[in-house]
Amino acid sequence: MFAQRVVSGMRPTGALHLGHYHGALKNWVRLQAEQPCFFFVADWHALTTHYESPEVIQRAIWDMVVDWLAAGVDPAQSTLFIQSRVPEHAELHLLMSMSTPLGWLERVPTYKDQQEKLTDRDLTTYGFLGYPLLQAADILIYRASSVPVGEDQVPHIELTREIARRFNHLFGREPGFEDKVAAAIKQLGGKRGKAYSDLRTRYQEQGDAQALTDARAIVESSGSLSAADRERLLGFIEGSRKMILSEPRALLTEASRLPGIDGQKMSKSYGNAIAMREDPASVTKKLRTMPTDPARVRRTDPGDPERCPVWPLHQVYSDDNTRTWVQQGCRSAGIGCLDCKQPVIDAVIAEQQPFIERAQPYLDDPALLRAIIEDGCSKARKVAQDTMRDVREVMGLNYGLRD
Ligand code: TRP
Ligand code: SF4
Repeated sequence: MFAQRVVSGMRPTGALHLGHYHGALKNWVRLQAEQPCFFFVADWHALTTHYESPEVIQRAIWDMVVDWLAAGVDPAQSTLFIQSRVPEHAELHLLMSMSTPLGWLERVPTYKDQQEKLTDRDLTTYGFLGYPLLQAADILIYRASSVPVGEDQVPHIELTREIARRFNHLFGREPGFEDKVAAAIKQLGGKRGKAYSDLRTRYQEQGDAQALTDARAIVESSGSLSAADRERLLGFIEGSRKMILSEPRALLTEASRLPGIDGQKMSKSYGNAIAMREDPASVTKKLRTMPTDPARVRRTDPGDPERCPVWPLHQVYSDDNTRTWVQQGCRSAGIGCLDCKQPVIDAVIAEQQPFIERAQPYLDDPALLRAIIEDGCSKARKVAQDTMRDVREVMGLNYGLRD
């Protein structure tokens, strides 16, 4: 119903690794060419778990944004910003907290999981319980249609949908709605206004699906309506409820999860990661020394790629021919493990070359980086403020005062 818009956030964890690139950033780069995208640094989310060490967050933010740009996220196509610089997120979070049942938050799987896993920190806090509600605010404030996330985040998107639904249910009965609709129909213009009203009646009285489609088309193609009026008229066709917040869907990033050099999920904390902009000599060394199928003790012992952590890297980095060469050479002991690793080493280094080049101007001149983020923050704020205007209005908070 609302325009297509992609929103996603990342907690500032510092320089990113190839797992982030293949798991998320590559997808962002593809999406930005298709739809308006809002990508932000979730610094408040980082504070919910790292409130005792805020100093690490600051540096991590800039290192991470450099890697976004290095990956090819393009500030001319995407809006890049920092969550805490758009304080409207916090206002929406607060307002939604009024009507969010505690049980909804307590039931989110990450809540208990993380409390059990991160035992070195005290996460029995108000902020941590509210983590997914803050995430819902991040998404709903931009009326996002889709949210690219990994599997672990799906419960958060589900919760976001429930929160939006509940919000619309509670507050969608806008005061003076009927009058506003009448005014908006006038805005449509005489002929179009009449056509809209007739089609609506036909849909309401006869359930005529074509009438519904046609009425929507009139509203959507009208250039004379404000965004709020457009939503009112779209809502009015089917009933009189106004959609204030729209339900997003999760855009699952395919589990092209690049494993680390030990075969486990790539993660900085496991010490098995290759940074996006790692020095080629270090990449070479890491890959040459990474473990292989334990059955290949000697060069003459045949191996099995399925038992080797190098194989998943070939699945990401090699073409069919190379993969056949690996399968045959490994099983027949025709190739050595260093031979086998070489195409991966070459491909990783080749992939990283443009990352290193794209990052350089920002390393040379950090002011460039700040300018991109400042510009993104002000663009994001405009959109967020529009939503908040509607939200305040339906919650009875505008008191006829100017913003
Ligand atoms: N919770 C997300 C994660 O840990 C980060 C995040 C915060 C996010 N706000 C968001 C992701 C909004 C998507 C949309 O990965
Ligand atoms: Fe692994 Fe390749 Fe060695 Fe086989 S030849 S064990 S796939 S590194």
